[in-house]
Amino acid sequence: MAGSANLNIMMKAARKAARGLIKDFGEVENLQVSAKSAGDFVSRADIAAEELLKEELLGARPSYGWLGEEGGGMDGKDPTRRWIVDPLDGTTNFLHAMPHWAISIALEHKGEIVSAVVYDPAKDEMFYAEKGEGAWLNDNKRLRVSNRHRMIESVFATGVPFAGNRDLPITLQELARLMPTCAGVRRWGSAALDLAYVAAGRYEGYWERGLNAWDLAAGMLIVKEAGGFVQAMNPEDSVLESGSVLASNEPIFDQFSKVIRSA
Ligand code: IPD
Ligand code: CA
Ligand code: CA
Repeated sequence: MAGSANLNIMMKAARKAARGLIKDFGEVENLQVSAKSAGDFVSRADIAAEELLKEELLGARPSYGWLGEEGGGMDGKDPTRRWIVDPLDGTTNFLHAMPHWAISIALEHKGEIVSAVVYDPAKDEMFYAEKGEGAWLNDNKRLRVSNRHRMIESVFATGVPFAGNRDLPITLQELARLMPTCAGVRRWGSAALDLAYVAAGRYEGYWERGLNAWDLAAGMLIVKEAGGFVQAMNPEDSVLESGSVLASNEPIFDQFSKVIRSA
């Protein structure tokens, strides 16, 4: 797809930030001996990536607002447009030298996400979408959600909250209900890639709560543009405001959401 000027700016920024992160990722293995120094190193890599993205994105569009995980929010001169950025989604994987993490960049216009990029540098997979233009992988692979409609053949993904998190018991109950009905559940540790994988038809559905707008904004548009459904856990809520998400292909949505929501 020949994307808009904004989409090209986003992809260029993601590739540039990826170069620094890939270099840092290579260093992480050497730091495994000390959990503390590896943690400090990764948080520095994370902050540096966000600074670079901010420079690139606001450099190209100085009037836009900003919401980033590390640097917080900032209003722009143009109150209708805002970049929403997670410079490194999948930090735990990165810290443990596992090659499954991504850069997530979304552009919001008048409260709606209009352009989205989720880039997985380790696998060189660039997922992207624009409102009304479909969702794509790398140069020209059009993304479509899967068409599996039988729960027993379907694979799902989620994020299991960390120890002590108040959402842990409810997630364990959801897993106990879902696991006997399906072909498998994955916990791969990057919400942005979980959404991109639903869009790519790699798994049928994904759900999680306790997230932030920067985890969800880009992936959400990519799923919708690939023909999938995206709702908050409570269907009345906004996904970005609630930080909760239930996403899947269309044929499985009713069965999947019923199992997850039947508390
Ligand atoms: C995390 C990842 C993970 C999800 C966490 C997020 P981070 O983002 O998306 O999959 O389960 O809740 O916070 O911290 O790696 O940017
Ligand atoms: Ca994140
Ligand atoms: Ca992050």
